[in-house]
Amino acid sequence: MLIDSYDRVVDYLRISVTERCNFRCNYCMPEKPFSWVPKENLLTFEELFEFVKVCIDEGVKKIRITGGEPLLREGLDQFIKMIYDYEPAVDLAMTTNAYLLKDAAQKLKNAGLKRINVSIDTLKPEVAQEIAGKDVLKNVLEGVEEALRVGLKVKVNMVPMKSVNADEIIDVLEYCKKRDMSIRFIEYMENSHAKAEIKGLKSAELLKILKEKYNFTDHGFDGASPSHYYVMDDGYKFGIIEPYEDDFCTKCNRIRLTAEGHLIPCLYFDEALSIGEAIKRGDIRRATLILKEVVKNKPEKNRWGGEDGESSSRAFYETGG
Ligand code: 5AD
Ligand code: SF4
Repeated sequence: MLIDSYDRVVDYLRISVTERCNFRCNYCMPEKPFSWVPKENLLTFEELFEFVKVCIDEGVKKIRITGGEPLLREGLDQFIKMIYDYEPAVDLAMTTNAYLLKDAAQKLKNAGLKRINVSIDTLKPEVAQEIAGKDVLKNVLEGVEEALRVGLKVKVNMVPMKSVNADEIIDVLEYCKKRDMSIRFIEYMENSHAKAEIKGLKSAELLKILKEKYNFTDHGFDGASPSHYYVMDDGYKFGIIEPYEDDFCTKCNRIRLTAEGHLIPCLYFDEALSIGEAIKRGDIRRATLILKEVVKNKPEKNRWGGEDGESSSRAFYETGG
């Protein structure tokens, strides 16, 4: 079992299989980065799988594939199948922007994927264009419908932003509720890559809007999920992710792996070790030691929003959010 210095069991691995993305979301990657990581620096799926096996053997129970946009990487369904065949009990999930999902959903489901998280920030094509930098809404919604059809569980993320999509909070929630998909509103997290003019809604502002329409009770936190849940009178549950809250990190159970092999103990901790070379050499013992070292050094809290007002320069599209 992987246990950090604050007695947190680390059993959740997030793998960013590519930093590349076909969207240019205003809160994440509004400009194409100056350069992408060269393809030859990426670990192959076979190499990533060697490390995944180490993690599963050490007690990892949940794996999420992220990006960038993971569906840009060819052969993703085979990677998922490798993991599934090694340990079918692993909770296998993926975060995707859903643009390419319509054609991929069935293959991913057959390979062993169980769940996906998708962003739906708006139901208006022109607003989607404004947020993502291209006309994406039709593909996204068709991708979501197909995912539901093939039996994937779908969770929706929405980042509410003033003067952009804050007026659609109820509409997006209703869209999800009708399809029995849970929604989580994510407070906008400042980062040096995002568009400077973005103003996110804070959870108090969100709750005020929701209270005008619905009755709900505070359900608190579920397990290690960073989301604060609320339950409506009819049982529908929605969540709010408040990364600025003090207790955001107390139950954190995750570590992150980038496509290059950097193992990152915390989203807002610019300290990582690489398992890349060890894995390329086939040195599993070394990779295991590095994993244990990173877990041991996992910081107690994210350092951003702290006294020194530090904010991360590590991009969401590198670490997979
Ligand atoms: N603030 C909040 N959420 C973000 N995401 C990406 N960048 C940010 C940010 N700056 C979330 C989006 C998307 C997921 C991949 O990460 O909601 O669904
Ligand atoms: Fe948008 Fe996700 Fe791509 Fe970032 S990684 S630009 S949030 S689709």
